[in-house]
Amino acid sequence: MILPGANLGLLGGGQLGRMFTVAARTLGYRVTVLDPDPHAPAAEFATAHLAAPYTDRAALAEIARTCAAVTTEFENAPAAALDALAATTPVRPGGSSVAVAQDRRREKGFFSEHGFPVGNFAIVDGPGDLDSALDQVRLPALLKTARLGYDGKGQARIERREEAARVLAGWKDVPCVLEELLPLEREVSVVLARGADGAMAVFPIAENRHADGILDVSIAPARVPQALAAEATELATRLAHALGYVGVLAVEMFVVGGRLLLNEIAPRPHNSGHYTIDACRSSQFEQQVRVLCGLPLGDPSQHTPAVMVNLLGDIWRDGLPRWEAVLRHAGAHLHLYGKREARPGRKMGHVTVCESKPERALEVALEIRHDLGIGGAQ
Ligand SMILES: Nc1ncnc2c1ncn2[C@@H]1O[C@H](COP(=O)(O)OP(=O)(O)OP(=O)(O)O)[C@@H](O)[C@H]1O
Ligand SMILES: [Mg+2]
Repeated sequence: MILPGANLGLLGGGQLGRMFTVAARTLGYRVTVLDPDPHAPAAEFATAHLAAPYTDRAALAEIARTCAAVTTEFENAPAAALDALAATTPVRPGGSSVAVAQDRRREKGFFSEHGFPVGNFAIVDGPGDLDSALDQVRLPALLKTARLGYDGKGQARIERREEAARVLAGWKDVPCVLEELLPLEREVSVVLARGADGAMAVFPIAENRHADGILDVSIAPARVPQALAAEATELATRLAHALGYVGVLAVEMFVVGGRLLLNEIAPRPHNSGHYTIDACRSSQFEQQVRVLCGLPLGDPSQHTPAVMVNLLGDIWRDGLPRWEAVLRHAGAHLHLYGKREARPGRKMGHVTVCESKPERALEVALEIRHDLGIGGAQ
């Protein structure tokens, strides 16, 4: 067990790293964050900030020398950096599960090889695979880059066969996955923590609504039949076990025809799990600290119904948002990530509304969303 007082290493200092850092510092740990951005959101709370590239040898050596264990906040941390650190320091989650999540081809392949339900898809390693992929997958479909996609980036809708080659060429023929466009009834996600001893703590599942490919609102617990929630939990725990996963894992799923299909996984806390900070006995970030340090897992149970609303840079378009629209609600918790520049689509913060009645939480959340001028239908 790594006890409070020890120094923990963190690759990536964005909002997920910031919330990890707050949880770790609260528990009495020190945190060294590596992030090239001098204004990285996590740096405000960290004990030390190494503002260097993720592959910087001196910075990695400093982390290896001073940190008892290392985690990352994003799945695109260079594998080489993780491997270099793992030679001397425990790294959680391990490079192999991160590698599965980093590449949609491996991810989808892992799901189907292990018998998990997935929508129809085909792997496109290059332009030569397009024809057979288009024979396998009905149109309309989504072409997604295998690596480095997030918030709906690196995705294109393909309506007609001939569009696919043009889109792929526009992406310089990078490897992709072609997926059937599914008629989604709902999207849900399961966030869980799994310790090195195989112990698991699963948070209540969240129901996720997106706008323009970016998470907009999460409702927890999800409004789905009990049996479906239980099945989602079972799928996520079986997946964590199959991956030999150690850390916090998020599993995104679709509900299609009343059945669950896996979409993708994130080897870290997830935007749809932010509600756990205010509405669960322990948060997804506290669990990340606990797993990293080999502590027993915290209690994931939810004490209050919650609805989370993401705050994107768009609402800064006419200057500072009217925070009064949030602050006047006693059950609304405002979380801002301290980012200096508000760009459209950039995640700047979130609000979690906690109310004893779930319908009331949703009502207040939608009112806040409206009052802040958040666009798109909800
Ligand atoms: N096959 C599909 N059929 C229908 N809708 C889809 C499909 N794949 C993705 N979507 C929609 O696009 C959203 C983003 O897709 P996905 O999760 O694959 O991408 P991402 O860029 O990794 O997003 P994020 O990082 O926000 O999770 C999904 O949450 C869903 O709303
Ligand atoms: Mg996703």
